[in-house]
Amino acid sequence: MALAFKLPRCNDRAGTKVIQRKMRTQIGIVGAGPAGLFLSLLLQRVGIESVVLEMHTRKYVEERIRAGVLEQGTVDLMHELGVSERLKRQGLQHGGIELRFGGRGHRIDFRELTGGKCVTIYAQHEVIKDLIAARLAANRPIIFEAEDVSVHDLESTVPVIHFGANGVVEQLQCDFIAGCDGFHGICRTSIPSGALQIYDRDYPFGWLGILAQAPPSSHELTYAHHDRGFALLSMRSPEISRLYLQCDPDEEIANWSDQRIWQELRQRLATMDGWKLTEGPIIQKGVTGMRSFVTEPMQFGKMFLAGDAAHIVPPTGAKGLNLAVADVRVLARALAEFYANGKTELLDRYSEVCLRRVWKVQRFSWWMTSMLHRFANDNPFDGRRQIAELDYVTSSRAASQTLAENYVGLPMD
Ligand code: FAD
Ligand code: DHB
Repeated sequence: MALAFKLPRCNDRAGTKVIQRKMRTQIGIVGAGPAGLFLSLLLQRVGIESVVLEMHTRKYVEERIRAGVLEQGTVDLMHELGVSERLKRQGLQHGGIELRFGGRGHRIDFRELTGGKCVTIYAQHEVIKDLIAARLAANRPIIFEAEDVSVHDLESTVPVIHFGANGVVEQLQCDFIAGCDGFHGICRTSIPSGALQIYDRDYPFGWLGILAQAPPSSHELTYAHHDRGFALLSMRSPEISRLYLQCDPDEEIANWSDQRIWQELRQRLATMDGWKLTEGPIIQKGVTGMRSFVTEPMQFGKMFLAGDAAHIVPPTGAKGLNLAVADVRVLARALAEFYANGKTELLDRYSEVCLRRVWKVQRFSWWMTSMLHRFANDNPFDGRRQIAELDYVTSSRAASQTLAENYVGLPMD
C-alpha cells in the first residue's frame, strides 16, 4: 500500500508542538458504515487504494443495532466480495411478507411474483463485522476513533481530509473523497449550501424497536395496520425476535415498560384466528425518528456523497442499507473506469444514475409508510382509504407484484 508519510512539526493555537503528518491515498472514505466499508472492498477488488476514517471505535460500529433486511442484490454482492461465509450459515431467506389488517393476514409471495427473488434477514451489524474483518485481513487501513474529521479543497485537484489520531494531526491527500458518514456526518454539511438542493419530509411518528429473546411468532415478516398504529414483527435468528411499534417521534423510552410494550404489540398484531405472539425478555430497546430526505446533486467537486450522507428513507420497507450499497456500486464502477481508462463520464453521471434509484426507493418507502401508519390528522375516511389500499394490494396481482419487485430490490441501472 502506497501511503506516504512526512513528519513536519508546527505550533497549534496554544503554542504547544503538535505533529502534523501528511499521507496520500487514492480514495479517502469518511465513515465505516455499510456505504464506506462496501466501497472500500469494491475498490480493493480492482486495485484502487483507499483509507477509511471512522469516528467511533470498532466495537461501537460492530454492535450498533440497525437494519436487518438484505435485498438479493446486497446478498449477491457479499458473495462476490467473498464476505458471505457467516451470511450463508446464519442468514434467513424469506420468500414473502405478510400484510396484516382487519385482524387477517395476507401473504405477498415474492418468489412467485418476481421470478424467484427473495430477501435475507441478517443484521446490519453482522454485515459490518464481516466487512471489517475482510478489510483488516487484507491489511488495508481503517482508522477508528478518528477525531475532528474535516474535508477541504474539494474543488481542487487534491482534496484533503484533516483528522486527529493518537495525538497526531493527519492530512490525508486524496484523488477523490467519498462522503459515507451518514446523515449526521460532516461531508454533506461541508458543501456550500447554495450548491445543494434539499428535498425532505418529516413524519409525525417514530418507531420503538425492541430485540427480544423470543422465537419469532411467524416465519416471515409481518407488517400490521391497526387503529392504534403500525406494528412490525421481524426477527434476527430462530431465537431472537425484532419488533417495532409506531410511537410519538420524541417518545421517552423510559415510559415504555416491557409489560406495556408486549401489551401494545399483542393488541396491534392480534388476529381473528387465535394467532399468538411469543414473548420473552427484552434485551434492547430504542426509538428511531422517521424522515425522507434527498440531497441533489450527490457530488461537489472531488467529493461524492453515498448512503445516508445523501439521503434518508423512513424504515418501512427496509431500504436504507440497501440503497447505500447501491450508491457505492455505482461509485466504484465509475472510479474503476476512471483509473483504468482516464474517462470521467461515469463519475460525471454518478449523481444522475444514483438519483434515479434513490427517488424510486423514496417513493416506495413513503408509500409503504403512508399505507400502514396512523397519521395524527387522519379521519375515518383516511382509515377506510388505507384499508381499501391494503385490500387492493393483497388482492390484485399487478399491485402485489409492484410491492414485491420494489421490496426485493429494483435492478441496478
Ligand atoms: P451509516 O451506517 O450511518 O454509517 C456512517 C458512518 O460514518 C458511521 O459509522 C459513523 O460513525 C461514521 N461517521 C459519522 N460522522 C463521521 C465523521 N465526522 N468522521 C468519521 N466518521 C463519521 N434501515 C432499515 O432499512 N431498517 C431499519 O430498521 C433501520 N433502522 C435504523 C435505526 C437507526 C437508529 C438508524 C440511525 C438507521 C436505521 N436504518 C434502518 C437505516 C440504515 O441503518 C442506514 O440507511 C444505513 O446504516 C446507511 O449506511 P451508511 O453507511 O450510509 O451510513
Ligand atoms: C426490519 C426493519 C425494517 O425497516 C423493515 O421494514 C423490516 C425489518 C428489521 O430490522 O428487521
